[in-house]
Amino acid sequence: MRTWLVTGGAGFIGSNFILQQRQAQTARIINLDKLTYAGNLQNLAALHQDPDYVFQRGDIGDRDLVARLLRTQQPEAIIHFAAESHVDRSIRSPETFIETNVVGTFRLLDEVRHYWEELPPAQKEGFRFLHISTDEVYGSLGSLDPAFTETTPYAPNSPYSASKAAADHLVRAYHETYGLPILITNCSNNYGPFQFPEKFIPLMILNARQGKRLPIYGDGLNIRDWLYVTDHCDAVRVVLERGRVGESYNIGGRCEKTNLEVVTQICALMDALCPTSPSVPHASLITHVPDRPGHDRRYAMDISKIEGELGWTPRESFDSGLAKTIRWYLDNPQWVEAVTSGAYRQWLQVQYGAAT
Ligand code: NAD
Ligand code: DAU
Repeated sequence: MRTWLVTGGAGFIGSNFILQQRQAQTARIINLDKLTYAGNLQNLAALHQDPDYVFQRGDIGDRDLVARLLRTQQPEAIIHFAAESHVDRSIRSPETFIETNVVGTFRLLDEVRHYWEELPPAQKEGFRFLHISTDEVYGSLGSLDPAFTETTPYAPNSPYSASKAAADHLVRAYHETYGLPILITNCSNNYGPFQFPEKFIPLMILNARQGKRLPIYGDGLNIRDWLYVTDHCDAVRVVLERGRVGESYNIGGRCEKTNLEVVTQICALMDALCPTSPSVPHASLITHVPDRPGHDRRYAMDISKIEGELGWTPRESFDSGLAKTIRWYLDNPQWVEAVTSGAYRQWLQVQYGAAT
C-alpha cells in the first residue's frame, strides 16, 4: 500500500481527511503534528488500532525530524495541512503564523526536495507535494465583483492570509526552480465536525447552547463561501490523484452567505433541536461587537477549473451540512468539554471580554 505523509492531521480538516482516507483504505498514513492548542488526538480515536496509521508528534520546521521521517517512511506524497489557521489570533500574535506557515513550510519543503531528488526515476515522477491553502490569499471582493479564479492576483489582508500567501509562493517557486512536483489547493471556509470552537460556526453553536451572547463583528454582512469539510477532503484527494503538476485549484461550496444569515439559521435549528432551552428564541442572543481589523468583506470561489478538469463538485447542501454539524456538537459534549480547556477560556476572555 502507498504511504502518504500528512502534516497537521490532528486539526480540523486534517483529521477529517485522515479518517476519510483510512476508511477508504487509499493509503497508509503518517501524521506529523505538533499538537498546538488546535491539534487534538481525540479526533483520531477511531484509528487507535489501525496498523496503517502512524502518529508522530513534531514540528514541520524540525528539519532533522522531517528528514528522518521521510527516510524511514518513504512517502509517495506529502499533504500539507499544518498551519496556524485563525485570523483573529494572527491579528493579536502574528509571529507564530510566520514561524509555522512561512518558515515551517519552507523547511518542510526544503527537506522534501532533498528527499525527492534522491528517489529513483519512477518514484520521483509519481511523487507529489500537495499544499493546502486558502481563498483568503486573494483578498476581499466587492458585492458585484466576480468570484476569485486561480489567476486572481494575490492581495492578502491579515497576517494569517499573508503568511499563507508567502507559503504558496514558496511552494510554487520550488516547482519552477527545482522541478518539485507540487499542487496547491485554495479553499473557502470549511465547517463540520471537529472544528475548534474559536471559528465562527462552532463558536455560535456552543455559545447558543450555553445561552451566551453570539458576537457578530461589525454589521454582520461580511460574506463567506461555505463548504462542508468532507467535500473539501474529497477535493484534496481528487487533486492529489488527478491534478496537473504545478497547478493551483480553487475549491469552494458555491454557497455565499452573510454572517447574519448563518447565525440566524443556526439559531432556528437550535430552537428546533432544543425547544425547552431558556434561550429560545436563540436569535435574541445575537450581539453586534466591534469589527475585526482589516475584516475582508466578501469571499467567493470560481470552481470551474476543478469541476471541468477533475470532475469534483460540492455535494453537501448548506442546510443538511449545518444541521449535521449542530447535531454533532450537541451529541459530543465530552469532545467539547476537552477542547474548551482553561487555555481556550483565556482566549475567549482576551478576544471577547468578560461578557462571553
Ligand atoms: P487547525 O488549526 O484546525 O489545525 C491545524 C493543525 O496543524 C493542528 O493539528 C496543529 O497542531 C497543527 N500544527 C500547527 N503548527 C504546526 C507545526 N509547526 N508543525 C506541525 N503541526 C502543526 O486548521 P484547519 O482549519 O484544519 O486548517 C488546515 C489547513 O487548511 C490550514 O493550512 C489552513 O490554512 C487551511 N484552510 C482552512 C480552512 C478552514 O476553513 N478551516 C479553509 C481553507 C484552508
Ligand atoms: O476562507 C478560508 C478561511 O476561513 C481559512 O483559511 C481560515 O483558516 C479559517 O479560519 C476561515 O477564516 P475566517 O476569518 O473567514 O473564519 P472565522 O470563522 O474566523 O470567521 C468567519 C466570519 O465570521 C468572518 O467574517 C468573521 C466573522 N466572525 C467570526 C468570529 C470568530 C464573527 O462575526 N464573530 C466571531 O466571533
